[in-house]
Amino acid sequence: MLLLSLLLFCVGTCAITRRTVPPSGAVIVRGSGTQAAEFGTLSAAVASLPADGSAQVIFVYPGTYVEQVHLTRANLTIMGFTQNVQSYTDNVVRLSFNLSQGEIGGGDLSATLRIDTNNVSLYNIDVLNTFGPHTATGAQALAVAGYGTNLGFYAVGFYGYQDTLRAEKGVQFYGLCYIEGAVDYIFGQHGHGFFHRNTIASVDAGAITADGPDTANESLFVINESNITTSPAATTDLTGLVFLGRPWSAQAQVAYISCNLGALINPAGWEPWSASMPNTDGVLFAEYASTGLKIRKGPGAVGERAPFSTQLTSAAGYGIADVLGANWMTWVDTGYYT
Ligand SMILES: *[C@@H]1O[C@H](CO)[C@@H](O)[C@H](O)[C@H]1NC(C)=O
Ligand SMILES: *[C@@H]1O[C@H](CO)[C@@H](O)[C@H](O)[C@H]1NC(C)=O
Ligand SMILES: *[C@@H]1O[C@H](CO)[C@@H](O)[C@H](O)[C@H]1NC(C)=O
Ligand SMILES: *[C@@H]1O[C@H](CO)[C@@H](O)[C@H](O)[C@H]1NC(C)=O
Ligand SMILES: *[C@@H]1O[C@H](CO)[C@@H](O)[C@H](O)[C@H]1NC(C)=O
Ligand SMILES: *[C@@H]1O[C@H](CO)[C@@H](O)[C@H](O)[C@H]1NC(C)=O
Repeated sequence: MLLLSLLLFCVGTCAITRRTVPPSGAVIVRGSGTQAAEFGTLSAAVASLPADGSAQVIFVYPGTYVEQVHLTRANLTIMGFTQNVQSYTDNVVRLSFNLSQGEIGGGDLSATLRIDTNNVSLYNIDVLNTFGPHTATGAQALAVAGYGTNLGFYAVGFYGYQDTLRAEKGVQFYGLCYIEGAVDYIFGQHGHGFFHRNTIASVDAGAITADGPDTANESLFVINESNITTSPAATTDLTGLVFLGRPWSAQAQVAYISCNLGALINPAGWEPWSASMPNTDGVLFAEYASTGLKIRKGPGAVGERAPFSTQLTSAAGYGIADVLGANWMTWVDTGYYT
């Protein structure tokens, strides 16, 4: 972490920082032209790690790796080759799979990357589930299932359609990431997630978040200074067809702080879970200082918001320490909290 902080430290105009050679001691993945002592797949590299809690780093050379990866070992950092560590737009490492819950018999089992452990960091990798819109064989198709605490995602791209990203447990940080989907594409039940300066992009109509805790204040997603927009991959006009969230349970808690909302956001902002099960009784669906269409009094104007939602008068209570705990600096890479 110290090495990374040094690499990312810059004064005034930041020079672009590359990561094109493996850090010393890293386990290396190279899909094409694999050399001695390297691995051709990420799964093989993960399987090679010692079964202890020692800090390990995996470095991945450019390529599309078509595989599902399951992490069960704590204290792991996976870094993709990149010409610009600060931007997901330069990602050249892709982990991709095409599988839905209907085909495999469980949402988490459909995930391209399953994280069932703690203290995992991912840098500059796109994780895709390419199943797409629902068919006769399936609907939910996860890119990432995050069941762990101290999970850090840095300039990572998440691509899916329904249920792209499950932030299920523990505390999780998402910095400078790209998250794409259509329906409930940021969801979970027992997690506290802080999403800092992400691009959140809808590819079709639906709700972005679906939080589903069992008890009050068990889960909280805070989305800070992010752009909420339409994906370049969308094939229809989404104006007014997207909601900031819907409550998977009546204790759902989601706040958008200082976000820029595109024309895709419906004037009501938030929607009930369903007509027969609205789940809106105890929700905390909050916004503070949204910008974008609001300031032009067009669609998305605050005055038209759903009655079960809240306009905050300050961001107090929704800072990174409120969401991740006072010791967040011991594990979050602050180069991505700027
Ligand atoms: C995990 O890695 C850190 C170094 O980043 C080390 O200090 C710590 O002891 C490791 N945890 C375990 C359980 O070995
Ligand atoms: C995970 O990180 C936390 C905070 O840095 C540390 O206390 C804990 O020992 C780590 N766990 C492992 C398995 O390394
Ligand atoms: C994903 O798999 C389904 C079959 O389960 C297939 O119909 C579909 O074309 C595949 N999509 C992609 C993008 O490969
Ligand atoms: C949001 O979009 C604006 C305008 O394109 C851009 O200047 C800003 O950097 C973006 N913010 C993030 C967090 O990507
Ligand atoms: C919610 O939980 C967080 C810890 O996860 C705590 O800091 C905060 O005080 C709680 N808020 C309420 C209103 O209980
Ligand atoms: C949002 O991010 C900015 C820095 O980009 C920070 O100053 C602000 O405190 C953050 N807001 C919250 C609620 O954490």
